[in-house]
Amino acid sequence: MKVTVVGAGNVGATTVKVLADSDLVREIVLTDIVEGIPQGKALDIAQSISAYGKDTRIIGTNGYEETAGSDIVVITAGFPRKPGMTRDDLLNKNAEVVGGVVKQIAHFSPKCIIICVTNPLDVMAYLAFKVSGFPRERVIGMAGVLDTSRFKLFLAEELGVSASDIQAMVLGGHGDTMVPLIDHTTVDGVSVRKLIDKERLEKIVQRARDGGGEIVNYLKTGSAFYAPATSVLLMIEAIVKDKHMVLPVAALCQGEYGIKDTYVGVPAHLGRGGLEKIVETELSAEELAALKKSAAAVREQIDVLKL
Ligand code: APR
Repeated sequence: MKVTVVGAGNVGATTVKVLADSDLVREIVLTDIVEGIPQGKALDIAQSISAYGKDTRIIGTNGYEETAGSDIVVITAGFPRKPGMTRDDLLNKNAEVVGGVVKQIAHFSPKCIIICVTNPLDVMAYLAFKVSGFPRERVIGMAGVLDTSRFKLFLAEELGVSASDIQAMVLGGHGDTMVPLIDHTTVDGVSVRKLIDKERLEKIVQRARDGGGEIVNYLKTGSAFYAPATSVLLMIEAIVKDKHMVLPVAALCQGEYGIKDTYVGVPAHLGRGGLEKIVETELSAEELAALKKSAAAVREQIDVLKL
């Protein structure tokens, strides 16, 4: 398998690093418009894995020729959020970047699966779907895995348990309207509602919603990258190992949950072909309404781009 990561910034380079450490693929290409950065970071990462005897081929470049024939392409190119900036402020700026990148990818790797990471995530994934002309199975976005891992961490800290004992899933758009499925959240089979009182639970949900912003406020000059990178890795692993695993991913809904022609976070099986099937899990009326509201908010942003 060959994976290309577009954008050699914090998220892109960290994705290459965790992917190289994972030993999942043979070749990784890192590309960016800034001369020297992808080359330097690729070399550094190659040397970091050679230190413990791994030999994944890692190439840094400013072009796309070297990316040709990739099986998976991760798009992290764009501009991160600055303090005070919403994901939506990034919309037009990043649409230009992602549109250009996707044209190149579709040309050089016409059979690849695109995993979009650039924000605003759901809108950029839709843009990638339109510009590439790929089927929806091969254009997905990473957000739900990240949002879910944030939610699980805060619950685990609150309860003093391991995050691995928590079953939870966060759906909806990546942003203020995301939808943590509280009724589906259990700790070793016990409903979280029985373990944490309503008010406290609401605070945890809100912290997960603001999870990206909390980090932006600390970092001041950039946004989260370690957790986004490992979240991408989980998706790549599901694809490469053909796991048919259900993960929350941004996917094009074509009637699922009553949502049409919009990317939004939903549970889906991931395997070698990319998105295999969107799972229509049973939602409470409140959760379904929240998911539809979230999808409508994404759709509004998509309309801004006039695709
Ligand atoms: N082609 C290739 N790379 C590009 C292009 C382009 N047209 N435009 C910008 N880039 C590169 C920049 O040169 C930079 O190296 O994208 C990289 C972005 O890196 P960072 O600024 O470090 O941003 P990062 O924190 O990695 O976030 C990237 O992921 O999580 C999202 O919100 C985040 O949209 C942002 C994206």
